[in-house]
Amino acid sequence: MIKLLYALIAVVIAIQFIRPDFTNPKVDETVTLQADTKVMNVLKPSCYDCHSNETKYPWYSHISPVSWMMEDHINDGRKALNFSEWANMDPAVKTKRLKRAIQLLDHGTMPKTSYLLMHKEADLSKDQKETLKQFFESEMKKLPNQPAYMYNDFR
Ligand code: HEC
Repeated sequence: MIKLLYALIAVVIAIQFIRPDFTNPKVDETVTLQADTKVMNVLKPSCYDCHSNETKYPWYSHISPVSWMMEDHINDGRKALNFSEWANMDPAVKTKRLKRAIQLLDHGTMPKTSYLLMHKEADLSKDQKETLKQFFESEMKKLPNQPAYMYNDFR
């Protein structure tokens, strides 16, 4: 039994050497999303850790296997939607993601539950959700030449 415990400790120590590369890609000010302070004060603490190149890494991001799970969330999150690449995003994709973002806020599926456990400030109030939803809608309206169906069937 004690041998098993030693083996387990050895594994936990060994996996600490397998670390993701948590260097943030550079943020280009001419490309990144621009929004007023009211919106940014909600968006940054709740979405930016997974959906931008401005991820903040807490102390436990240095502990495996937690760090591996975080790496997946950050990589997949940035792939799906990266506010730091805003101006470079295809308008059709942007429309879809914005529409989805509004739905996800309504369903309470973003930010992710596992994230909320460690980030109380990302647990948005009704007003904060409304601020984001209105902002996402205003961003959708800015996009050129979107077919009408893109706007009609959400909510
Ligand atoms: C803990 C990391 C994390 C946080 C925080 C987070 N997301 Fe995500 N998000 C993801 C990941 C991972 C994906 C891609 C895979 C998936 O849907 O789970 C994703 C996908 C998305 C998508 C695309 C989904 C689709 O079906 O096309 C949208 C839109 C989105 N997130 C919006 C948001 C918004 C808005 C916030 C803030 C209110 C937010 N997310 C906070 C990790 C996160």
